[in-house]
Amino acid sequence: MKNIWKSVISLSLGTTVLAGATFAVERDAANYVGVKTCGICHKKDDCGNQFAKWQVSPHAKAFETLGTPEAKEVGKKFGVDNPQTSGKCLKCHSTAYNFTEAVTTEKIKPEDGVVCESCHGPGKKYMTKTTMEDKAKAVAAGLVDPATQSCKLCHNDQSPSFKGFDEKAMVEKIAHPDPKVKH
Ligand code: HEC
Ligand code: HEC
Ligand code: HEC
Ligand code: HEC
Repeated sequence: MKNIWKSVISLSLGTTVLAGATFAVERDAANYVGVKTCGICHKKDDCGNQFAKWQVSPHAKAFETLGTPEAKEVGKKFGVDNPQTSGKCLKCHSTAYNFTEAVTTEKIKPEDGVVCESCHGPGKKYMTKTTMEDKAKAVAAGLVDPATQSCKLCHNDQSPSFKGFDEKAMVEKIAHPDPKVKH
């Protein structure tokens, strides 16, 4: 079954879509592979070592954050006793929940936090070497443009700590370019 995630992005989020337009993102839970699998090919320094950069990024710690006293305080306001087991928090603090309030893939543990595929799309169909080397092919197989199609699925006013989202600055903060990819 396809997991179709749909949301109406409101104008208050500052998107360029027209009022009432539907922003549909297809994230088939069956196609997740997990961060270790992406890491097999993406941990060489001469290709930008995205795996190591992710490991030290806030997204790798998104689950851990839900265990802090601060998170418990936030949870209280939403009737959540333990944020680390609540879908109300894990929908954005882990990839395993795939933007929903329930686990939708066993391939990724909630503890892994927000992994590559929350931003780049589930990888099973695009991660073969020949597909990855051909961007058009990869996009056809489900690779998404993260900046325009992913950030606001979590960085929005449904987040208890939301203070706005400056896309350019935020993308810069998590930059992990591949020097071999031509832009
Ligand atoms: C079998 C090896 C392999 C695996 C596994 C793999 N990749 Fe790749 N990926 C590559 C290669 C090769 C390129 C082309 C760039 C290069 O040569 O450095 C690439 C390119 C990319 C790009 C840049 C695409 C572009 O042209 O803009 C992204 C993004 C990416 N991979 C994400 C992922 C994610 C996320 C995963 C896990 C779901 C993953 N890759 C798994 C080998 C792999
Ligand atoms: C709609 C997505 C979303 C939901 C739902 C969500 N969070 Fe977050 N959370 C975020 C994002 C994104 C950040 C990073 C800060 C920001 O830009 O809002 C964050 C940051 C945090 C932080 C760090 C504080 C900070 O200011 O950086 C805590 C603690 C936290 N969230 C707790 C929770 C708890 C507890 C829940 C459940 C009651 C929850 N979050 C639900 C997206 C979400
Ligand atoms: C929070 C979202 C996010 C996460 C998590 C994430 N990425 Fe990215 N990734 C991006 C963005 C945004 C870009 C820049 C895209 C662009 O310039 O078009 C990018 C760029 C890349 C590129 C380089 C493409 C290029 O054109 O230079 C590769 C390769 C890549 N990511 C792989 C990964 C891998 C592997 C992981 C996990 C270990 C990962 N990413 C985790 C958002 C993310
Ligand atoms: C699956 C949900 C999710 C997606 C998709 C996502 N993020 Fe996040 N992001 C979070 C959460 C949760 C945090 C808070 C992590 C923590 O503090 O533990 C966060 C934190 C951050 C932070 C550090 C906090 C800050 O304000 O400096 C940056 C930067 C960031 N994200 C950028 C991005 C960008 C850029 C994209 C899109 C390319 C993106 N994120 C996509 C959930 C997400």
